Amino acid sequence: MQKPYCRIILSLSAICSLSYSVSAQDAAVRKPGDNSGKNEGAFHYSIQKKLSSTHGAVVSAHPLASKAGVAILRQGGNAIDAAIATQLALAVVYPGAGNIGGGGFMVAHLAGGKNITLDFREKAPAKATRDMYLDANGNPLPTLSQNGHLASGVPGTIAGIFAELKYARLPFAKLIAPAIALAEKGFVITKSEAWNLNNTQGAFKKYNTVPPVFVRERSWQAGDTLVQKDLAATLRRIRDKGAKEFYEGQTARLIVEEMKRGNGIITLDDLRQYTAKERQPAVFGYKNYTIVTMPLPGSGGVVLQQMMKMAETQPLKEYGFQSVKTVHLMTEIERLAYADRAKYLGDRDHYSVPVKTLTSKAYLQQRMALIPADRAGASKDIQAGMISPLSEETTHLDVYDQAGNAVSITTTLNGGYGSRVVVGGAGFFLNNEMDDFSIKPGTPNLYGAVGAEANAIAPGKRMLSSMSPTLVLDKGKVCLVVGTPGGTTITTSVFQTLINILEFNMSTDDAVNKPKFHHQWLPDEIAVEPDFPASVRAELQKMGYTIVPRSSIGRTEVIRVSGGRIEAVGDGRGDDSAEGY
Ligand code: DON
Repeated sequence: MQKPYCRIILSLSAICSLSYSVSAQDAAVRKPGDNSGKNEGAFHYSIQKKLSSTHGAVVSAHPLASKAGVAILRQGGNAIDAAIATQLALAVVYPGAGNIGGGGFMVAHLAGGKNITLDFREKAPAKATRDMYLDANGNPLPTLSQNGHLASGVPGTIAGIFAELKYARLPFAKLIAPAIALAEKGFVITKSEAWNLNNTQGAFKKYNTVPPVFVRERSWQAGDTLVQKDLAATLRRIRDKGAKEFYEGQTARLIVEEMKRGNGIITLDDLRQYTAKERQPAVFGYKNYTIVTMPLPGSGGVVLQQMMKMAETQPLKEYGFQSVKTVHLMTEIERLAYADRAKYLGDRDHYSVPVKTLTSKAYLQQRMALIPADRAGASKDIQAGMISPLSEETTHLDVYDQAGNAVSITTTLNGGYGSRVVVGGAGFFLNNEMDDFSIKPGTPNLYGAVGAEANAIAPGKRMLSSMSPTLVLDKGKVCLVVGTPGGTTITTSVFQTLINILEFNMSTDDAVNKPKFHHQWLPDEIAVEPDFPASVRAELQKMGYTIVPRSSIGRTEVIRVSGGRIEAVGDGRGDDSAEGY
């Protein structure tokens, strides 16, 4: 049991698209001529971790993407316009996770009061089968679900962006213009991007049928310029011909040709049939607040809701931030919620999930009764709750505008650089989202999560996701916009960030940057960040907990709105940057 998870932990820091070994300050602000990529027209920038503004703000994983969003707000765009521009810019400047070859979720609140959730998660291709990642003896073959052409689900991002456009104000050509310019002229890469690109060279060479621009003999260095001509051409085609171009036109043909060269299974029909879906937002109360988050196939509506509702019954404020008692309780709450996730959660369009029961007060009370008072619980003793079946990589961005519109989008390729396959001639990475399905009951995925029938592979089905873009409303107005990447740690990071602010009255930057911890039922251990207090660790170990170090947990972005001020905070764990005006 231990061994496979070790592999997962090791691969996590490399895979999660985010090299955490590099501090944001390392991101070079270089003058033209100063970088070894030698491209005079390339875009430069500086990182801004926190800002306070009155008109609007954007926070995302990359300063150039946040800047693209704020430029759109300044031109009279609303939060949705800015989110689209940021998303597209991330597909260029943050190739490990920003994408047009992956998928994601949007949670938005319009100033008029409407909440919107949009599902543009990838789907299993029609030729996908339940056992496609098992060998003849039924043993799992996770390299196939994680790397190369067979790992990709049908991409949803472009369909998502065009579905978002319904709520936008400016012409699409304006929104995509910054991304085209960034791809065409190039931009100066940060130290962490260079580290990630260098670390993935072997996989780029192994899995690509046409060498992509990311492959290079000499090592990448901070300050080099990355120019992406094929991607610029793809974005221009999308600008001129719309979503149809991606799903039926030249880009679709390039994807299918790539699939044929690499023995993948995505067909033109799969692409043609892909649609993004507006879903009923998951809305629940926490004390006097209203939380709006993503329903299935996102985890917010069930896992986050369960955790928040269980936490609401406990005097956490009295116990204090990261006291032994608080960490014990929050860990046990996480364990209970993730045990249910493994058994019950999957795409509701394909599998009946008892969401009502799982989030009901009575059920959660029963679950809380399983928490031992003064010692660690044990995952072998905690199964998913008994419910009668009849009862029913990644990156995040936040935008807020002056009118009161708010957008929270998490989008992903799954692992860093997804399947590592760049569509030949089209210049973008395809996702490796198929690994988010349960490839065999009980077999852990890239993030150590196990699943069952609810999340088994089936044609056209969406794989379960931890992504939980979330909004908090106070008396009907948005007061917090929150979200993060981080695989299975996404839901616990959002949970802890909300509790930090709503219970412990923490400042926004402390809520984001203070060390986090994570328990996901299996493996039965608490992962903690390096600066998690040693004394609390020692006390928890005495109670019977297994503690494992984790280089970092999430890259949380938060916008907080209060008294006419808009405060945006980008996580210190990466190159994340806030912009506003
Ligand atoms: O949807 C999910 O749950 C995963 N594909 C998210 C992966 C992720 O957050 C990777 N980034 N660190």
